[in-house]
Amino acid sequence: MGAFRQGLSSYLNWKKKQPIARDRVGPQTCPLAIGPLTLTDLESVMELEKVSFPSPWTLATYHSELTRNSRSRYLKVGPAPGPGVRAMGAAVPALIAQGGFMLFGAEMHIVTIAVLPDWRGRSIGEWLLLALLALGREEGAHTATLEVRVSNEVALRLYRRAGFEAVGYRRRYYPDKEDARILALEALHRESVWGPLRERFEALSVLMGRGVEAPG
Ligand SMILES: CC(C)(COP(=O)(O)OP(=O)(O)OC[C@H]1O[C@@H](n2cnc3c(N)ncnc32)[C@H](O)[C@@H]1OP(=O)(O)O)[C@@H](O)C(=O)NCCC(=O)NCCS
Repeated sequence: MGAFRQGLSSYLNWKKKQPIARDRVGPQTCPLAIGPLTLTDLESVMELEKVSFPSPWTLATYHSELTRNSRSRYLKVGPAPGPGVRAMGAAVPALIAQGGFMLFGAEMHIVTIAVLPDWRGRSIGEWLLLALLALGREEGAHTATLEVRVSNEVALRLYRRAGFEAVGYRRRYYPDKEDARILALEALHRESVWGPLRERFEALSVLMGRGVEAPG
């Protein structure tokens, strides 16, 4: 028997003797879905705001956004209906991310986007941003704009990856006087701009529908 076959046979014998580790499961995956944010989500939105922004919006602001502002559109990311987390049934929050924009004619102004801290770094923010752009585009937006803190490098990278460019500054814009950078994504209605973003959105939708690794 050659050295390789000898090695293989002793490995297989060793394998046979190993107990099956029933308590060892792979990473838990949770299929995700995007849908409209509703009033029943607002308590969870308050939790997400607190852990995401130095000056969180209030419940009253969100309530008014959802009930009185006809220009507003909000989307959320949560576990997809169905079995949810496979494997050992870890608890998954009903709201993992949310974001929204206001429509002013052909301009959509993104007013908020946030992902629960434990769920960041899984492309959920990018997926939600692309979903907001898809919805805005469907509603006639040609340009997307937003403000972002000059120190928010993760968000700046997220927006730049989607094609946003810096178009201006707002000095001391935030309550704590930090400056805002104004970013814009132009010509969203053109296929040359939207085509690659749509492809990425579709690819991410497939991946997220299959499931992302749950934290913990
Ligand atoms: C900004 C924010 C929404 C981004 O959400 P997110 O889900 O973490 O975003 P993504 O996962 O799409 O991208 C974030 C980073 O994770 C990385 N990433 C994405 N998928 C990953 C994966 N599977 N494994 C490891 N890293 C990954 C991305 O490359 C990106 O890193 P980079 O910035 O170094 O390139 C989130 O950080 C957040 O909620 N921040 C607080 C609120 C806020 O600042 N909102 C913006 C206001 S303008």
